[in-house]
Parts: sequence; structure tokens; C-alpha cells
Amino acid sequence: MTTSGRSATRRKAPHVLAHAPFRRLWTAMGVCSLGDWLNIIAITAFAAYLTRSSGYQAQSFAIGGVFVVKMLPAIVLGPLAGAFADRFDRRLTMFCADLLRFVFVLSIPLVGSYQWVIVATLLVECVNLFWVPAKDATVPNLVPKDRLEEANQLNLLVTYGIAPVAAALFAVLSVVVETLGKAVPGMLWEPAHLALVVNAFAYLVSAFLIFTLKSIPKDHTTTVATPSVLRQIIDGWRFVGAERVVRGLVIGMLGAFAAGGAVIGVAKVYVVELGGGDPAYGTVFAAVFVGMALGIFFGPRLLRELSRRRLFGLAIVTAGVVLAATALIHNLPIVVMLVVVLGACAGIAWIIGYTLIGLEVEDHLRGRTFAFLQSLARVTLLLVVAVAPAIAGLFGKHELSAGPDIVYHFDGTNLVLVLGALLAIAVGVLALRHMDDRREVPIGSDLIAALRGERYVPESADQSQGVFIAFEGGEGSGKTTQSRLTAIWLRDQGFDVVQTREPGSTKVGMRLRAILLDAAHQGLSARSETLLYAADRAEHVEKVIRPALERGAMVICDRYVDSSLAYQGAGRELDQQDVARVNTWATGGLVPDLTVLIDTPPSVGLARLASPADRIEREPLEFHERVRREFRALAAAAPDRYLVVDGQQTQEQISLIIQDRLRELLPDPVPQETEAITGTMPAIRD
Ligand code: TYD
Repeated sequence: MTTSGRSATRRKAPHVLAHAPFRRLWTAMGVCSLGDWLNIIAITAFAAYLTRSSGYQAQSFAIGGVFVVKMLPAIVLGPLAGAFADRFDRRLTMFCADLLRFVFVLSIPLVGSYQWVIVATLLVECVNLFWVPAKDATVPNLVPKDRLEEANQLNLLVTYGIAPVAAALFAVLSVVVETLGKAVPGMLWEPAHLALVVNAFAYLVSAFLIFTLKSIPKDHTTTVATPSVLRQIIDGWRFVGAERVVRGLVIGMLGAFAAGGAVIGVAKVYVVELGGGDPAYGTVFAAVFVGMALGIFFGPRLLRELSRRRLFGLAIVTAGVVLAATALIHNLPIVVMLVVVLGACAGIAWIIGYTLIGLEVEDHLRGRTFAFLQSLARVTLLLVVAVAPAIAGLFGKHELSAGPDIVYHFDGTNLVLVLGALLAIAVGVLALRHMDDRREVPIGSDLIAALRGERYVPESADQSQGVFIAFEGGEGSGKTTQSRLTAIWLRDQGFDVVQTREPGSTKVGMRLRAILLDAAHQGLSARSETLLYAADRAEHVEKVIRPALERGAMVICDRYVDSSLAYQGAGRELDQQDVARVNTWATGGLVPDLTVLIDTPPSVGLARLASPADRIEREPLEFHERVRREFRALAAAAPDRYLVVDGQQTQEQISLIIQDRLRELLPDPVPQETEAITGTMPAIRD
């Protein structure tokens, strides 16, 4: 039995969540993330509550203080924590971190002073810095490499997607506290009290999950031979600077963060300037998350054929352009839509950046790289969030008038957004230049091809010199005879003609042909059959076809890629796209200028065969019917590049039709008589 069945080729690998250890870690992440978001909402509400009697300004400062404290530890502790993740048992690190977070968060409502809110928040954030890189560095160890992108998507889903859930939970808890407050007269609890308790228990649940997750590998703890934590940090920093790709990734991700920071810093004011209130502000924020989710889930899928590195840079550049539009178009609904696109670009950049780091950075350095990135991202965010409103304020409000009724506002917020946009564009371009893995291919063509779901293959300039004609058809269709007659006709006119065929026109190809057509190899698997034909073709293109085309010859080839699409794709029922991809790679994307399809019903063609049937000819009639249908479908899909001739006409009639069509392709004037070069052509039967 062969392995060519449809089910065998189309069976999907199990979902990444089918890996039990990853599922458990993912659940822990979800629970923690719920806790983190609840923490942000509860802690700011709690800070506002504790300072409620000190006036509006003091209250704002109190909330601002919480944000600053939330981001500050990253500056000092970020890299240290990363080294920790690479050096120590990651499971133990996460478990202890969860227990500490539980204790610290629980202490906030119990102590109940603003000072303690600040201290405890600081402590929680310090602990977070150890938990996150340990988790990030563990994920690639728990899932197979090819599922890493999927795993990262799920991680980001729980990291950001859970924010609205946390907000809803906070609302529910508020209602619970209010109802309880009415029922129990002496109760002094605020919603934030309960939310913080729930938040603390979320970390406890995570601690339990992590504790039971025994499969987090410890190998890296023994293989790391670096002497000190400090040394590891220095190495980590050095590594990020030295690796071109990682440098590009880090620059890109930081740029995206800076641009994001600019938006956060001025969003509230900008929305008010556009005439929106709090609901509009909420909508803009929701739009960012919706966009990010869309980008994370659909972006990489939409542009599968585009190099990941290019997609990363392009996403950031696009984010910049969209941000500029956001700054300049003063219309709230349009701004909301643009913000969705902005979020989508950021989502694409993040998912790809994370995945690339997971794939390209060695295990023992990964923790530090993630930590380095996390800490720098926070610093950037902190700086930008602090500086952006200041710049906006300093610039003030300006009006440009082009006539009495046409007034264009350009305020500080617009300026900050434009600056953020320019930064994103510059950083995106820089990342592209650092990381580009397809320098020889123009990025525009690459993108257009990817949008169509294809991989762009550059046409080499010299290819156009010769003319490449392929003959295709089923068994006994008469194409071999016709290709020979065509070659003779062309030579008679003075063309340099190379007549060749597949499989078996090179030394290696002849051996492959023997394997492929030997009736003794009846059980050959469909995939190896495809690969062997493709191997023959790769050799053929490189050794025979391309050199001939480069010197300007006319190449007449009996069978080419379409035979594989028809016989292996349709006949063996393999995935067409897979067969096409393998062949595009094998041939470097070389496509005939014209393919002549001699279309003959298989029953007629097979009856014409005289000698004993080879391995393929022995296939049942339905197989050959499928082959014929596929040939016809290929021709119908690109009529400009095909000539379909009815193979049941006389030889002369067919030749005349082919010659008529070829005349359109021939160079004018016809070259002088040259010495015809004859390809090595063993007697072939159709
Ligand atoms: P061959 O004897 O050259 O016959 P034909 O005159 O029919 O071309 O045998 C080539 C066989 O290989 C033919 O049965 C078709 C098959 N084939 C594929 O299945 N896939 C391919 O890509 C090619 C080139 C040929």
C-alpha cells in the first residue's frame, strides 16, 4: 500500500494545546494574567480611594505614582531576572514568585495605606520580572518548534485578551461588594479590597499549577557554565548587540513600544480634542486590543509566503504610516478604525518578534534576551509616556487657516503622534535593513506575491533570451512525436534547439528515471515519487535547461512541472500546493513560455501503447482520468501560456496548429542557420 491517500497527506498535527505540559503552563499564564489586569484596575482604584480626601490633583499624582512604580523595577532588575531564568530552575523560580506575589498582594488591602500600596506594588513588580522571563524561556521547551508561533499566539491571547474579562470581573466584584455593604451594615470594604483578594488567590492557583508541572526541563541549569550572574547579564547584553537579527528585532520591538507609548501618553487629550468623552476613550482602547488580536491571529496566516523578518519590519513601518494618518485626520470614527489597523500591525510585529527570538536565540540565552527586551520596553514606555504629554503641552495649540472657513488644527498631541509615526517608520526601516533575508528580491514584488498567496521568485534577466516550450499530455497522447517534429521544424528555420525530456535527461536523472519507472518499485510512496521527479527536474533545469536558455537557445521539453501536478498532485491525490511548492523550489521558479498540451482521452492513449506498461502506465484508468482533468484545469487557469490541442486529430493537423501558435513566440527576424545542437534523445514512446 502506498502512503498517497488524501487522509495521510492532509492529516493535521495535533493542536498545540494537546501538549499537556504546555496546556498547564498556559492555564497558569491565563490565571496570572487575569490577576495582573485585575491588579492594575484594583490598585489604581485603591490608590484613588485612599487619597480621596486630598483633591483632584493629588489623586491624579497618586495614580500616576502607582504606574511609575509598576514600571520602575524593570530598569534595575530586568536583566538580573533574565539571568536568573537562564541559571536557576525555572519551575522553582515561577513557583516561588507566585507565592510571593500572593503574599504581597494580599497584604495591600490588609495594611490599607497608600505608602504600603507603593511598596507592595514595587515588590510585586520585582517578582513579576522573575516570573515572566522564566515563563517565556520555558514555552519553547514545552512545545515542538513548528508549533511555537501557535503557542505564542495563545500566550498573547491570554496576556492581552483577558484584560476585558478582568474589567468585567472587577465590575461584578463591585456589585457584590455594594450588595454586601447594604446587607451587612458594618462592612467597610471597597470593591478594590475584594478585587485584590481575588487577585492574590489567582497567583496562588498559578503557584499550584506550576508546582505540579514537573516537565519543565532543568537541563539548562546544569549546562550553563558561566561563573556569575553578573557575567551572564553582560553576555546577554553583548549577545543582543552582536547578533544582527536579534539587534534588528530588539530595535523594531522597542520602536513599536515607543510609538505605542506616544499614543498612550496623549490618547485621552486627543480624544477630547476630537470631541469624544470617556466612552470614546474606552472605544479607542478597545480598538487597540481588537486590532492586536486580529493581527496576532490572522496576520501571520494571511501572509504565509512572506519572509517572517520582512513581515516584522513591514508591520512596524505600516504602523508608523497609520499612526501618521491617525494624527492628521481629525475624525473620531476614522481614528477608531485606524487604531484597529495600528493595533493589528503591532500585534503582527509582537507575535513575529517573539517567535523569531524563540527560534533564533539559544536556550541558555533566551531568558536574558526576553528579560532584556522586557526591561528596555518598559523603560521606553515609561520615558515616552512621561515625555509625550510634556512635549504636547509645550507645543500647545495651533491653527493653520487657508481661508476664513478652512481651519486646520495642529496641536501638541498631533505633533507627538507624528513624531511617534516617524520614529516607527525609521525603526521599521532599520529593522528591515538589519534582518532582511531576501535582499535579492524587491520588497514590493515580494509583498504582492505574498498577498496572492505565492512566493515571489525573481526572474533572472538572462532567462528571457531563449524560449522555453514544454509539451504535456497523458500516456500515448502523441506529445513525444509532436515535440520531436517541432524541434525539427525549428531547426529547419535556423534556430539553436535543445530537445530534451523528463525524467532522465542528465546522468543523475537517468538513474532516477530507472527507479521511477521500474515496475518492480510498485510500492514507492507518493511523496518520495514526487521528490524524485523534482530532484530529476532540479538537475535538469540547472544542467540542461537554464544553460541552454542563457545562450539563447530554444528549449523543447517533453514533460515538465505540470506532469508532477497532474500525476502526483491529481493522480496520487497529494496536496497540489505542496507539489507546486516543491517544484518551484526545485526549478528556481522557471516557468515555460508556452506549454503545449496534447489532450487525448486516456482510453485512446493507453490503447496506443505497444510495449509492456511501466510503473505509472499500470495505474487504473481513473488515475489517468484524474491526470487528464488536471492538465486541462491547469491550461484553463492560464490560457495565455497554454496551447491545448485535440490529440485525436492527425499528426499533420496537430503539427500545423502548434506551428501557428509558435510563430507568435519566435524572435523576429529568425536567426541565421547555426549548427543545430541535438539533445541526447533516446527513443521515447508516448
Ligand atoms: P516516459 O516513458 O517518459 O513516458 P511519456 O512518453 O508518457 O512521457 O515516462 C514518464 C512517466 O513518468 C509518465 O508515465 C509520466 C510520469 N511522470 C510523472 O508521473 N511525473 C512527472 O513529473 C514526470 C515528468 C513524469
